[in-house]
Amino acid sequence: MTDGLDGVRDHYRATGLTERLKTALAALGPANEKLTPQQLGALDQFHTRGLAATAELAKLADIGADTSVLDVGSGIGGPARYLAATYGCRVTGVDLSERSGQSGQVSFQAASALALPFEDGCFDAALLQHVAMNIADRARLYREIRRVLKTGGRFATFDVVLNDGEPHYPVPWARTPATSFLLTAPATREAIERAGFRTLISQDDTEVAKAWFAQLRASGPPPSPNLGVVMGADFAQLAANLGRNLMEGRLGILTAVLEAA
Ligand SMILES: C[S@@+](CC[C@H](N)C(=O)[O-])C[C@H]1O[C@@H](n2cnc3c(N)ncnc32)[C@H](O)[C@@H]1O
Repeated sequence: MTDGLDGVRDHYRATGLTERLKTALAALGPANEKLTPQQLGALDQFHTRGLAATAELAKLADIGADTSVLDVGSGIGGPARYLAATYGCRVTGVDLSERSGQSGQVSFQAASALALPFEDGCFDAALLQHVAMNIADRARLYREIRRVLKTGGRFATFDVVLNDGEPHYPVPWARTPATSFLLTAPATREAIERAGFRTLISQDDTEVAKAWFAQLRASGPPPSPNLGVVMGADFAQLAANLGRNLMEGRLGILTAVLEAA
């Protein structure tokens, strides 16, 4: 693909992932035993505060059994599986990484958030968790999300924002500044609203994220399987740098829920 997104693809590219996942998951129990979102949370929820953050965002977005949800930049698929398992809703995940497939109420497609492969107005809700910081063309990102949502639909975003000063790299979404495109919280909200949204909820979640990182630092990385299986041995360092950037006031965490106007 020549869409200018190869640097981001390379950052998340995991070679031999299927085999590594099989080995890591074998430690959790026999292959025919169903794993819970809680067992997998340290591995497949690729954002600050893991499963707890997804659970909170789903509540804020008012997701229920009848909500058709689009998870933009769905990563390893943990948030999509959690939503379907918890609410019984249909969830479609889209990510740059070469994954596709369907299981029960969850389906995944490989596509860019900047060219979503869906018709106008076909989802009730869209989630965007820790993805926007990889995307330079925010106007296009938020316009695409608005386009595929029904009028009155909800957009729930949970992302890292620029606060004060240059972040230390590498961080979990970018090993260098070349694939990192951060905006401040007000600039993020403004870009979203300009795409045709009305803000319902906007909260600064930096302090709760800092507390989570402080606890992580004290207790050490979560037991395997965790995101190190996917991102490689340096993941603990990437995560520690995000914690440090938050502690030093360089970065912040924004949660916002908006309505498609
Ligand atoms: C930090 S992970 C977050 C994954 C997931 N949202 C979660 O919270 O578990 C960021 C994900 O965004 C995806 N991504 C980045 N830029 C994208 C784009 N332009 N289109 C689709 N996915 C993108 C990456 O491939 C990666 O899987």
